[in-house]
Amino acid sequence: MKILIIYGTYSSGTLMVAEAARDMLTESGHTVTMLRVDSVQGQDIIDHELIIMGSPSWKVFGKQGMPHEWYYGMMERLKGQTFNRKFAVFGLGDESYALVCDSVNHLKGFVQELGGTLIGEPLKIEGFFFNKEQRLRELRDWLPTITS
Ligand SMILES: Cc1cc2nc3c(=O)[nH]c(=O)nc-3n(C[C@H](O)[C@H](O)[C@H](O)COP(=O)(O)O)c2cc1C
Repeated sequence: MKILIIYGTYSSGTLMVAEAARDMLTESGHTVTMLRVDSVQGQDIIDHELIIMGSPSWKVFGKQGMPHEWYYGMMERLKGQTFNRKFAVFGLGDESYALVCDSVNHLKGFVQELGGTLIGEPLKIEGFFFNKEQRLRELRDWLPTITS
């Protein structure tokens, strides 16, 4: 399957998860492209069968539990276009915040706005830097649920 992983990151956790997902999916025989969210154009989405969007949860525009702010730029660029594609989402976060890993809910909303179909359950990756091995095992378990 041709898969596009879109990511935004502030402190590199989401990048690390995106890279791990890329490597695991490649191992499973998929063709994977990874793009930072600020560089994504409509054609990138059209060119892939499954689009995985990942983001930290952060304080953006004064609100907690938000996705990386660059997602809003992407949504502005893609405005008015409809993508009949499969999407899956994952979000990083930390339980010390009130809205834990809530970026996934915003990403789900973006999928809807883009006219895509959400595949599988959103993956919430809490406390990545403190439980890396466990969280990567959870990622490995999640990937087949969105690719099969
Ligand atoms: C300023 C700031 C705001 C954050 N806000 C939230 C939040 O609202 N909800 C949450 O679950 N995690 C929150 N986090 C935790 C981050 O989502 C978490 O550290 C994540 O791993 C960061 O991903 P990144 O390294 O890709 O930027 C926040 C962290 C910082 C520093």
